[in-house]
Amino acid sequence: VIAESDRAIACMGAAEIANLIQMRNAADLPTVLGLATGKTPILLYRELIRIAREKALDFSRVITFNLDEYYPMSAHSPQSYHHFMRANLFDHIDIHPAHIHIPDGTLSRKNIANYCTEYEEKIQQAGGINLQLLGVGENGHIGFNEPGSEVDTRTRLVTLDPITRQNAAAEFGGETNSPSEAITMGVATILEAQRIILIASGSKKAHAVQQTIDGPVGANVPATYLRSHSNVTIYLDPAAAKHI
Ligand code: GLP
Repeated sequence: VIAESDRAIACMGAAEIANLIQMRNAADLPTVLGLATGKTPILLYRELIRIAREKALDFSRVITFNLDEYYPMSAHSPQSYHHFMRANLFDHIDIHPAHIHIPDGTLSRKNIANYCTEYEEKIQQAGGINLQLLGVGENGHIGFNEPGSEVDTRTRLVTLDPITRQNAAAEFGGETNSPSEAITMGVATILEAQRIILIASGSKKAHAVQQTIDGPVGANVPATYLRSHSNVTIYLDPAAAKHI
C-alpha cells in the first residue's frame, strides 16, 4: 500500500491494530502483538494512543513481545528499547506490566542462549503472535536480523552490521559508543506471526524496500523472507516507494 504520507501509514497501521484488539476483546480472546522500535513506528504508536483514548480501547488482554534490544543495555538507559517502548506507548495505555516482554539486555553472556529459548517459549505459551509490526533497516534487516541472517534463525544474540551501528551513532554520541550486539527475535520467529505489517517511510529506505519486493529472496536482504509469508502488508510513503 502506497499512502500519501508517513502519517497516513501510521493511521492505517494503528487502525488495524486497534481493530484487531477490539475484535479479539469482543470474542473474549487475548491479542498478542509483536512490536518494533525505531523512528518509523513512533507516529503509529502516537495514533494508537489517540484511538485508545477516543474509543476507550481496553488493553487489559493485550500481550506484547518486542523484536529486539541492544546488548549490553540497561532497561533504564534512555537509549534502550525498554525506555523507547515506555515513552512511546506503554506509559500511555492501560497494558498490564506482566504482559510486556522485551529482550533483556542485562543478562550475563552465559545465560543468553537459555533466555532466548524461554522468550520463544513464552510467545508459544501466549498462543503465538497475532500481528507483528515491523520496520526495515536501510540494509534490509528486520528486527536485528542483519544481512546474513538465514530463514530458520530464532531469538539469539547477534553482531550488528556497520550500517546499523552508523545509523545508531547519533543516539549514542558517536559510532564508537554505538552497541555492537543485540538480542533479536529470529527470521523464523517473525515468520510464525499470523499477520505481519511492515511500515517504511523516507527515501533512505527506498532501496531496501525495492529489494524486499523485487530482489532475490535470501539472507543478503532478510526482509525478502517476508515474501514466503501469506499474510503480509507493506505500507509505504511515496519516498520509500520511489524505486518500485
Ligand atoms: C532498528 C530496529 C528495527 C527497525 C529498524 C529501522 O535498528 N532494530 O527493528 O525496524 O532499525 O529503524 P528506523 O525506523 O529508525 O529507521
